[in-house]
Amino acid sequence: MTKIIHLISKNCSLIIKVEHNPEILHWGAKINQIDPELLLSTERPISQARLDVDVPLSLCPELGSGHFNAPGIEGHRNSYDWAPVFKLTEQQLSDQSVVFTLQDDVAKLQLEIDIKLDFDSDVIQKRIKVTNIGESKYNLSKLSATLPLPTHANELISFYGRWSREFQTNRQSFTHGGFMQENRRGRTSHENFPGLLAGSEHFNEQTGQVWGFHLGWSGNHQLRADVRSDGRRFVQAGELLLAGEAVLQPSQSYTTPWLYATYSNTGLNGISKRFHRFVRNNIIKFPVNKPRPVHLNTWEGIYFEHNPAYIMKMADEAAVMGVERFIIDDGWFIGRHGERAALGDWYLDKQKYPNGLEPVISHINDLGMEFGLWVEPEMISQDSLLYKAHPDWVLELQGYHQPSGRWQYVLDLQNPDCFNYLFERLNDLLTTYNISYLKWDMNRELVQPGHQGKPAVNGQTNALYALLDKLLAQHTEVEIESCSSGGGRIDFEILKRTHRFWASDCNDALERQTIQRGMSYFFPPEVMGAHIGPAESHTTRRMHHINMRGMTALSGHMGVELDPVKVPEQERQAFAKYITLHKKYRTLLHSGDSFRLDSPDKSQNIYGVFNADEMLITVCQLTMPDYALPSPLRINCIDNKAKYNVKLVEVPESSFQLMKQRPQWLDKTLTLSGENLKEIGLTLPILDPESAMMIHFEKVK
Ligand code: DGJ
Repeated sequence: MTKIIHLISKNCSLIIKVEHNPEILHWGAKINQIDPELLLSTERPISQARLDVDVPLSLCPELGSGHFNAPGIEGHRNSYDWAPVFKLTEQQLSDQSVVFTLQDDVAKLQLEIDIKLDFDSDVIQKRIKVTNIGESKYNLSKLSATLPLPTHANELISFYGRWSREFQTNRQSFTHGGFMQENRRGRTSHENFPGLLAGSEHFNEQTGQVWGFHLGWSGNHQLRADVRSDGRRFVQAGELLLAGEAVLQPSQSYTTPWLYATYSNTGLNGISKRFHRFVRNNIIKFPVNKPRPVHLNTWEGIYFEHNPAYIMKMADEAAVMGVERFIIDDGWFIGRHGERAALGDWYLDKQKYPNGLEPVISHINDLGMEFGLWVEPEMISQDSLLYKAHPDWVLELQGYHQPSGRWQYVLDLQNPDCFNYLFERLNDLLTTYNISYLKWDMNRELVQPGHQGKPAVNGQTNALYALLDKLLAQHTEVEIESCSSGGGRIDFEILKRTHRFWASDCNDALERQTIQRGMSYFFPPEVMGAHIGPAESHTTRRMHHINMRGMTALSGHMGVELDPVKVPEQERQAFAKYITLHKKYRTLLHSGDSFRLDSPDKSQNIYGVFNADEMLITVCQLTMPDYALPSPLRINCIDNKAKYNVKLVEVPESSFQLMKQRPQWLDKTLTLSGENLKEIGLTLPILDPESAMMIHFEKVK
């Protein structure tokens, strides 16, 4: 007997038709009441010259049932049992979740499909577990979570990138064929962020129906979206398993990472609002009542030149500017004079720090700042004491030459001795020193990820999670930043055990605008590490005025990344100004609803954040404006019935090149209605390229 399961959240419905193999009938807008004749009204015709039966797009589509696109499961038992067909045996239903158990008695496999719908955020989570219930081993080559899309989802936005250019978006039509992304880099990667957005034609920031997807996994993955020849379409995501990576012995199981997905009928802003809410309520483990401290990170200031007296001088200046956490980056440990040596030797370099690290930390603490330290635990340099003692701890394939990356290799975290050594070193550092924060870096890909000769990206990734979990269980107050040559490891699963991301090594504010915009679809501003760098960017050599740098860093989790001793007094004062502004607005920034506005002029990036009382909007002029006059700022997410005091927070101080007379409101506080702001808009000044302004809207009580 066919049944219907209806999971409901604040704004969404997930309706599943339960037969021998369950199928999602509807995932989208909330359905208040299901028609009794829904099953009849959704019955599909059977077309000529195809199979004689209707083939459902099931929760784990099967080749053996006549799904001719990518199946949800692939594998074999010594060349048999390669096209399993499952039958529902059990279902456990609760308010917000359902677990289906399915079995194939021929292939001797069991599936457990776990689906949850978070009421508050409208985010779906789905994962699948397969268990080998046979008596011989089963070679699993793929297990992915599949979610259907309606036929009017006919455009896709995917993500691409590289080092210093993360989270770039690519839009494409999704009407035939599809999209496929495979990540084999052994980390989440700069190149293939595991996220995808699908939507109705011309969906944009503010309008349209959009379905958003993210696979929470820090290893290899496959992400695809397919349009079948019958027009039905789906997104599928899972771990990319290397040949022989998942061999299930009798009774053994493999579980996929969680696929997170959400639906919005208010464009991309609805997607980010939902993902942000989910992340805040379910993923981030951060002291709730503590504001995120403003950072100074030493990397771009001093690189490997560590002199404790000088670092203390940097700390003095940092404290004056309003910095709240001072982080010593790479270069502090024994023999680390450059990139080519010493990774693995996690002991303080006594030549650089003859009096130990304690006086530096005390100095920083006395100035009222917390102290943080950089580490890169998963790595080993050939030129290191650790390598001399344990060359066999490297993740490798015996008998082959392995290219190094940044002159370093990856440690095999599944080797218990290696795991214990790393835990002991990190635990010792956190116990010996007053460290409140670790910047956990990871600077190369996994080329030959072999553990005892067998493929081990899955094992390595889980061992990394275990190492972080063990450390955090011991040091509950310590916060960790996930850095991987910038944004190479940004995903929900690593965020469960970290507190912030270094979004990119590119501190060029212009590039950062695009990177941060892409990242903002999935991650709230408080986990987006954003620093003011030196005037000349170290990755692009482009120069930026402090206005552009300050405004770009201000909206994330703010920091500075330079040597404050060397910069002119005027710049230092400007840092202090942006830090003060950030502190003034950080509660709003780090807890409000973020949004982006569509502008008819693509040379502008407009984004903001609001709560019940106030709103902050940044307008960044990326390149030369398209028109002589900017379009009025029309804010669709504003409360129509409210009145707002509208006040300029920041506009470039230096003289405008493109404008000879400023709009008068820039020097006043206006009181405007939500309705006017939405429908008529606010006239903007003409901004020069690579500059930004900020406006504050306070609701009149
Ligand atoms: C790469 C990181 O992304 C940088 O911020 C810095 O920490 C360097 N590694 C240090 O080696």
